[in-house]
This record gives sequence, structure tokens and C-alpha cells, in this order.
Amino acid sequence: MQFGFDSDVVYEMAYSDLGQQMLNAIGAEIYGEYIGQLSWMTIEEYRKFIARLGPSADSHVLEIGCGNGAAAVYLATSTGARVTGMDRSEAGLRFARELAKEKGLDGRAEFRAGDASREFPFADDSFTAIFANDTFSLIPDRAALLRQCHRVLRPGGRLLFTDPMVLCGIVTSEEIETRTWAGASCVTPHGENDRLLERIGFQLVSSEDLTESVVTVARRQASVFERYRQEIVAGMGQEIFDGLVRSTGMAERLADQKRLIRTAYLAEKAA
Ligand SMILES: C[S@@+](CC[C@H](N)C(=O)[O-])C[C@H]1O[C@@H](n2cnc3c(N)ncnc32)[C@H](O)[C@@H]1O
Repeated sequence: MQFGFDSDVVYEMAYSDLGQQMLNAIGAEIYGEYIGQLSWMTIEEYRKFIARLGPSADSHVLEIGCGNGAAAVYLATSTGARVTGMDRSEAGLRFARELAKEKGLDGRAEFRAGDASREFPFADDSFTAIFANDTFSLIPDRAALLRQCHRVLRPGGRLLFTDPMVLCGIVTSEEIETRTWAGASCVTPHGENDRLLERIGFQLVSSEDLTESVVTVARRQASVFERYRQEIVAGMGQEIFDGLVRSTGMAERLADQKRLIRTAYLAEKAA
């Protein structure tokens, strides 16, 4: 059964010229400081994530689900690390490569097409750190995904990922349908990511509840969507506008009631 849209269709739309123009126009009103993210992540959070991964000029960081490359480029410019971004959206990767070129990151930022639900196109022990924001919930076989992360991470390397779909209460099928309107997504029982990380050989360093950012970002999105109603309907159509408003409202409600929480997991591969 397919709810609403195929998520790839939604990402192609968001990473189109028009989609990026619209997001650039409203991003600061939603996130405060906007670097180009298409997620629940605020820049304050991202700075904390980077500090926990601790990259330096000698590091090579993989970002899974890098989209338009904004976060990867930010990490490379702010830490001096080398980054590789992987995403299956060619439209997103086009922006990522342009942005890296614009920032003079030739040789330090590389963007590759790849489906994270398959074997990663990288050799064992290739990266000193792996980062993935609000992407793992789109990939059903979490164990296989974490095994790939473990394989390509160097001993002693750190993995940080967020999961915005951790189930902590009762949710109806209708609520899930509305929440996942923008494409299939997996709901993960509370504790499952922790268990899988340990089973695959990671040591869980910390898990942090970041549900508050979903509530804040979703509230701001709702008011911005309303203010830009005409422009969004003209650019994307009424059906998309209505779906966006409903799914954002549901994300806020489920997060506010702590039924679906967003968590950041930091884990380490044994040295
Ligand atoms: C919610 S967006 C987050 C993008 C970015 N991490 C950010 O915070 O702005 C999810 C991203 O994951 C990508 N994605 C979804 N499924 C994927 C898969 N199986 N393999 C690689 N990328 C995937 C999408 O194309 C999209 O760019």
C-alpha cells in the first residue's frame, strides 16, 4: 500500500530548482539559522553532533542521506575534515556538487549516488566517522544498514544518527498514514536501535531525546506554510500543500504527546 507520495518523488521535488528556491525563501523562518537542511535538525543541534563526532583535518566523514550536501559542506568547511556524501537523489547530489565547488572544496568533498539499503560502495574501514540525519527511518532493514556502517567505519570510529520515528505510545493507522504522507517510513520501537547497535558490535555511547526540535520546527513550518499558502499552491499544487499541512500538524501532535519521539544515537566501533 502506498500512502500519499513516494518519498523519492517528494525529495526530487524538494531538490528541484523551484523547491530549493522556495526552501531558501522560508528556511530562516523555520530553522532560525538555515544551512539548507530538509529535516528536523536545527543548526544548534548540528553543531553538537559535529562536536560529538569530533572530526579534524585528518578525518574522513561519511554522510548517509546527504541530500543537497548542505550539512556535509558545513562540516568540511567548519572542521577541515574530508567528507563523502551519499544519497540516492540525483537532484540533491547536483546541488551538493555545485555547493562544494562554490566553497572551493575540490578534493575534500565528494558526493556519490548510492542506495543505503544496499551494500555501500566503499571499502571496509574507509571512514573515521559516519553521520546520518533523519534518514535511517526511511530504510526498513535497520540491522543491514547498521552492519554496513560498522563495516565501512574504522576501528574506534563514531556513528551518529537520528531517528525521528521512535515509537513510545499508541498511534493509530490513520495517524501514521497522515504523518508519513510524504513517503514510506519505518516506525521503530523504543529501544530497538539501541539493541541493534549493540548486537552488530557497536558500543552505544549516548542516546539523546530531541523530540522538542520536531515540535518547534513543525510549529514554525505550520505558520510559514499558512503565510506562503498562495506561493506554495502556485508552485507545487493544492494536493501537496494540503498534504504538507496535515503531515506537519500530525508530526507536531505525535511529538508533543511523546508518542513518536526523535532520538540521536552516538555509537562507537571497538578500537
Ligand atoms: C529527510 S531527508 C534528510 C536530508 C539531510 N540529511 C538533511 O538533514 O537535510 C532524507 C534524505 O535521505 C535520502 N534517502 C532516502 N532513502 C535513501 C536511501 N535508501 N539511500 C540513500 N539516501 C536515501 C533522501 O533522498 C533525502 O535526501
